[in-house]
Amino acid sequence: MTMMDTIRARHSVREYDGRAPEGEALAALRAVIDECSRESGLNIQLVLGNPEAFQVVARFGLVHGVDTNIAFVTANGGRDDEAIGFWGQKIVLAAQEAGLNTCWVAMNSRRKNKAACAAGEKVRIIVAVGYGKTQGVTRKTKSVEELSTVECAEAPSWFAVAMEAAQLAPTAMNNQNFHVTLREDGKTVSIEAPKGGWNTVDLGIVKRNFQEAADELGADWRWES
Ligand SMILES: Cc1cc2nc3c(=O)[nH]c(=O)nc-3n(C[C@H](O)[C@H](O)[C@H](O)COP(=O)(O)O)c2cc1C
Repeated sequence: MTMMDTIRARHSVREYDGRAPEGEALAALRAVIDECSRESGLNIQLVLGNPEAFQVVARFGLVHGVDTNIAFVTANGGRDDEAIGFWGQKIVLAAQEAGLNTCWVAMNSRRKNKAACAAGEKVRIIVAVGYGKTQGVTRKTKSVEELSTVECAEAPSWFAVAMEAAQLAPTAMNNQNFHVTLREDGKTVSIEAPKGGWNTVDLGIVKRNFQEAADELGADWRWES
Protein backbone atom coordinates (compact mmCIF):
# COMPACT_ATOMS: atom_id res chain seq x y z
CA MET A 1 0.00 0.00 0.00
CA THR A 2 1.40 3.41 -0.92
CA MET A 3 1.08 6.43 1.37
CA MET A 4 -1.35 7.95 -1.14
CA ASP A 5 -3.51 4.78 -0.92
CA THR A 6 -3.53 5.20 2.86
CA ILE A 7 -4.45 8.90 2.58
CA ARG A 8 -7.30 8.02 0.19
CA ALA A 9 -8.58 5.19 2.42
CA ARG A 10 -8.69 7.25 5.64
CA HIS A 11 -11.98 8.76 6.77
CA SER A 12 -13.07 9.84 10.23
CA VAL A 13 -14.78 6.91 11.95
CA ARG A 14 -17.20 7.60 14.82
CA GLU A 15 -18.66 4.11 15.44
CA TYR A 16 -16.28 1.44 16.76
CA ASP A 17 -16.71 -2.23 17.66
CA GLY A 18 -15.40 -1.90 21.24
CA ARG A 19 -12.12 -3.78 20.77
CA ALA A 20 -8.91 -2.07 21.86
CA PRO A 21 -5.99 -2.10 19.39
CA GLU A 22 -4.22 -5.47 19.68
CA GLY A 23 -1.33 -7.53 18.33
CA GLU A 24 0.70 -6.09 15.47
CA ALA A 25 -1.58 -3.07 15.14
CA LEU A 26 -0.97 -2.13 18.77
CA ALA A 27 2.78 -2.63 18.36
CA ALA A 28 2.79 -0.42 15.24
CA LEU A 29 0.81 2.25 17.06
CA ARG A 30 3.17 2.26 20.03
CA ALA A 31 6.18 2.43 17.72
CA VAL A 32 4.93 5.43 15.75
CA ILE A 33 3.87 7.28 18.92
CA ASP A 34 7.37 6.71 20.38
CA GLU A 35 9.00 7.90 17.16
CA CYS A 36 6.83 11.03 16.90
CA SER A 37 7.28 11.89 20.59
CA ARG A 38 11.04 11.59 20.24
CA GLU A 39 11.30 13.58 17.01
CA SER A 40 8.87 16.34 17.97
CA GLY A 41 9.49 16.65 21.70
CA LEU A 42 5.70 16.61 22.18
CA ASN A 43 4.03 14.73 25.04
CA ILE A 44 1.93 12.15 23.18
CA GLN A 45 0.33 9.34 25.18
CA LEU A 46 -1.54 6.19 24.19
CA VAL A 47 -4.40 5.91 26.69
CA LEU A 48 -6.10 2.51 26.88
CA GLY A 49 -9.28 1.61 28.79
CA ASN A 50 -10.67 5.15 28.86
CA PRO A 51 -14.13 5.24 27.23
CA GLU A 52 -15.04 8.15 29.55
CA ALA A 53 -12.78 10.43 27.51
CA PHE A 54 -15.49 10.41 24.83
CA GLN A 55 -18.40 11.09 27.19
CA VAL A 56 -19.41 14.65 26.42
CA VAL A 57 -22.84 16.15 26.45
CA ALA A 58 -23.28 17.53 23.00
CA ARG A 59 -25.45 16.97 20.04
CA PHE A 60 -22.57 16.98 17.62
CA GLY A 61 -19.36 15.05 17.55
CA LEU A 62 -20.01 11.99 19.65
CA VAL A 63 -17.76 9.04 19.05
CA HIS A 64 -19.04 5.63 20.17
CA GLY A 65 -17.69 2.18 21.06
CA VAL A 66 -14.07 3.21 21.50
CA ASP A 67 -12.02 3.17 24.68
CA THR A 68 -8.58 4.09 23.38
CA ASN A 69 -7.29 7.56 22.64
CA ILE A 70 -4.06 9.24 21.66
CA ALA A 71 -3.75 12.25 23.94
CA PHE A 72 -1.69 15.34 23.11
CA VAL A 73 -0.69 16.82 26.45
CA THR A 74 0.81 20.29 26.67
CA ALA A 75 1.60 23.06 29.11
CA ASN A 76 1.63 25.56 26.23
CA GLY A 77 -2.08 26.00 25.52
CA GLY A 78 -2.50 26.40 21.75
CA ARG A 79 1.14 27.18 21.04
CA ASP A 80 1.97 23.60 20.03
CA ASP A 81 -1.04 23.29 17.72
CA GLU A 82 0.77 23.10 14.39
CA ALA A 83 3.22 20.48 15.69
CA ILE A 84 0.36 18.50 17.22
CA GLY A 85 -1.42 18.43 13.86
CA PHE A 86 1.73 17.60 11.91
CA TRP A 87 2.95 14.78 14.16
CA GLY A 88 -0.52 13.58 15.09
CA GLN A 89 -1.43 13.08 11.45
CA LYS A 90 1.69 10.94 10.99
CA ILE A 91 0.29 8.72 13.76
CA VAL A 92 -3.18 8.73 12.17
CA LEU A 93 -1.76 7.58 8.83
CA ALA A 94 0.34 4.86 10.48
CA ALA A 95 -2.74 3.66 12.39
CA GLN A 96 -4.71 3.50 9.13
CA GLU A 97 -1.90 1.50 7.54
CA ALA A 98 -1.97 -0.90 10.50
CA GLY A 99 -5.68 -1.64 9.94
CA LEU A 100 -7.03 0.74 12.58
CA ASN A 101 -9.50 3.60 12.23
CA THR A 102 -9.27 7.03 13.81
CA CYS A 103 -11.02 10.33 14.41
CA TRP A 104 -9.53 13.59 15.66
CA VAL A 105 -11.80 14.64 18.53
CA ALA A 106 -11.73 18.22 19.82
CA MET A 107 -15.01 17.72 21.64
CA ASN A 108 -13.87 15.30 24.33
CA SER A 109 -13.94 15.12 28.09
CA ARG A 110 -10.50 16.37 29.14
CA ARG A 111 -11.40 15.99 32.81
CA LYS A 112 -12.11 12.28 32.40
CA ASN A 113 -9.01 11.56 30.33
CA LYS A 114 -6.60 9.15 32.03
CA ALA A 115 -3.52 10.65 30.35
CA ALA A 116 -0.82 11.60 32.85
CA CYS A 117 -0.72 15.38 33.20
CA ALA A 118 1.89 17.12 35.37
CA ALA A 119 1.06 20.39 37.12
CA GLY A 120 0.17 23.00 34.49
CA GLU A 121 -0.31 20.44 31.72
CA LYS A 122 -3.60 19.75 29.96
CA VAL A 123 -4.95 17.48 27.27
CA ARG A 124 -5.16 19.75 24.22
CA ILE A 125 -6.84 17.32 21.80
CA ILE A 126 -7.24 13.57 21.33
CA VAL A 127 -7.50 11.09 18.49
CA ALA A 128 -9.89 8.14 18.87
CA VAL A 129 -8.31 4.90 17.69
CA GLY A 130 -9.79 1.43 17.30
CA TYR A 131 -11.59 -0.88 14.90
CA GLY A 132 -14.42 0.89 13.09
CA LYS A 133 -17.78 -0.69 12.40
CA THR A 134 -17.30 0.85 8.95
CA GLN A 135 -14.41 2.52 7.17
CA GLY A 136 -16.20 5.91 7.21
CA VAL A 137 -17.44 7.85 4.22
CA THR A 138 -16.11 10.14 1.53
CA ARG A 139 -17.13 13.70 2.31
CA LYS A 140 -17.40 16.95 0.42
CA THR A 141 -14.28 18.91 -0.28
CA LYS A 142 -13.47 22.38 -1.56
CA SER A 143 -11.97 22.36 -5.05
CA VAL A 144 -8.22 22.47 -5.67
CA GLU A 145 -8.80 25.84 -7.39
CA GLU A 146 -10.32 27.21 -4.21
CA LEU A 147 -7.61 25.72 -1.98
CA SER A 148 -4.54 26.70 -3.99
CA THR A 149 -2.83 29.28 -6.21
CA VAL A 150 -0.20 28.40 -8.80
CA GLU A 151 2.22 31.25 -9.55
CA CYS A 152 4.38 29.39 -12.11
CA ALA A 153 3.42 28.88 -15.77
CA GLU A 154 2.46 25.25 -15.34
CA ALA A 155 2.21 23.24 -12.13
CA PRO A 156 4.38 20.08 -12.09
CA SER A 157 2.43 16.81 -12.02
CA TRP A 158 3.36 16.01 -8.39
CA PHE A 159 1.54 19.15 -7.26
CA ALA A 160 -1.87 17.77 -8.28
CA VAL A 161 -1.30 14.63 -6.21
CA ALA A 162 -0.03 16.59 -3.20
CA MET A 163 -3.07 18.87 -3.44
CA GLU A 164 -5.35 15.82 -3.52
CA ALA A 165 -3.66 14.69 -0.28
CA ALA A 166 -4.25 18.18 1.18
CA GLN A 167 -7.93 18.03 0.13
CA LEU A 168 -8.29 14.64 1.84
CA ALA A 169 -6.73 15.83 5.12
CA PRO A 170 -9.10 15.90 8.09
CA THR A 171 -9.93 19.39 9.35
CA ALA A 172 -12.18 20.43 12.24
CA MET A 173 -15.81 20.45 11.07
CA ASN A 174 -14.44 19.89 7.57
CA ASN A 175 -13.63 23.61 7.47
CA GLN A 176 -10.62 23.34 5.13
CA ASN A 177 -9.48 26.83 6.15
CA PHE A 178 -6.11 26.71 4.42
CA HIS A 179 -4.55 27.97 1.22
CA VAL A 180 -1.54 26.53 -0.58
CA THR A 181 0.59 28.60 -2.98
CA LEU A 182 3.09 27.13 -5.42
CA ARG A 183 5.64 29.87 -6.10
CA GLU A 184 7.05 30.95 -9.48
CA ASP A 185 9.98 28.53 -9.27
CA GLY A 186 7.54 25.58 -9.29
CA LYS A 187 9.26 24.16 -6.18
CA THR A 188 8.59 26.42 -3.21
CA VAL A 189 5.28 25.89 -1.44
CA SER A 190 3.68 28.14 1.13
CA ILE A 191 0.62 27.30 3.16
CA GLU A 192 -1.47 29.64 5.22
CA ALA A 193 -4.39 29.36 7.59
CA PRO A 194 -6.24 31.99 9.60
CA LYS A 195 -5.64 32.03 13.34
CA GLY A 196 -8.27 30.85 15.75
CA GLY A 197 -10.31 27.75 16.56
CA TRP A 198 -8.56 24.56 15.46
CA ASN A 199 -7.18 26.12 12.27
CA THR A 200 -3.55 25.74 13.35
CA VAL A 201 -3.94 22.05 14.22
CA ASP A 202 -5.62 21.66 10.82
CA LEU A 203 -2.67 23.45 9.19
CA GLY A 204 -0.22 20.93 10.65
CA ILE A 205 -2.42 18.04 9.52
CA VAL A 206 -2.66 19.38 5.96
CA LYS A 207 1.11 19.95 5.85
CA ARG A 208 1.71 16.33 6.81
CA ASN A 209 -0.60 14.96 4.11
CA PHE A 210 0.86 17.27 1.45
CA GLN A 211 4.45 16.45 2.42
CA GLU A 212 3.93 12.67 2.52
CA ALA A 213 2.37 12.73 -0.97
CA ALA A 214 5.01 15.01 -2.52
CA ASP A 215 7.91 13.09 -0.95
CA GLU A 216 6.50 9.72 -2.01
CA LEU A 217 6.67 10.94 -5.62
CA GLY A 218 10.28 12.06 -5.17
CA ALA A 219 9.28 15.66 -5.98
CA ASP A 220 11.91 18.40 -5.89
CA TRP A 221 10.13 20.85 -3.60
CA ARG A 222 10.38 22.64 -0.22
CA TRP A 223 8.27 24.57 2.25
CA GLU A 224 8.73 28.33 2.09
CA SER A 225 10.51 29.41 5.26
C1 LIG B 1 -8.73 19.38 14.85
C2 LIG B 1 -9.91 18.49 14.57
C3 LIG B 1 -10.92 18.35 15.50
C4 LIG B 1 -12.02 17.51 15.26
N1 LIG B 1 -12.97 17.35 16.23
C5 LIG B 1 -14.02 16.52 16.01
C6 LIG B 1 -14.99 16.29 17.03
O1 LIG B 1 -14.93 16.84 18.13
N2 LIG B 1 -16.01 15.42 16.77
C7 LIG B 1 -16.11 14.77 15.56
O2 LIG B 1 -17.04 13.99 15.38
N3 LIG B 1 -15.20 14.96 14.57
C8 LIG B 1 -14.16 15.81 14.77
N4 LIG B 1 -13.20 15.98 13.79
C9 LIG B 1 -13.30 15.24 12.52
C10 LIG B 1 -13.74 16.15 11.36
O3 LIG B 1 -15.12 16.44 11.49
C11 LIG B 1 -13.43 15.45 10.03
O4 LIG B 1 -12.05 15.29 9.92
C12 LIG B 1 -13.94 16.23 8.84
O5 LIG B 1 -15.34 16.30 8.82
C13 LIG B 1 -13.46 15.62 7.52
O6 LIG B 1 -13.88 14.29 7.38
P1 LIG B 1 -12.84 13.10 7.20
O7 LIG B 1 -11.91 13.11 8.36
O8 LIG B 1 -13.69 11.87 7.10
O9 LIG B 1 -12.07 13.36 5.93
C14 LIG B 1 -12.11 16.82 14.01
C15 LIG B 1 -11.08 16.97 13.08
C16 LIG B 1 -10.00 17.78 13.34
C17 LIG B 1 -8.90 17.89 12.34
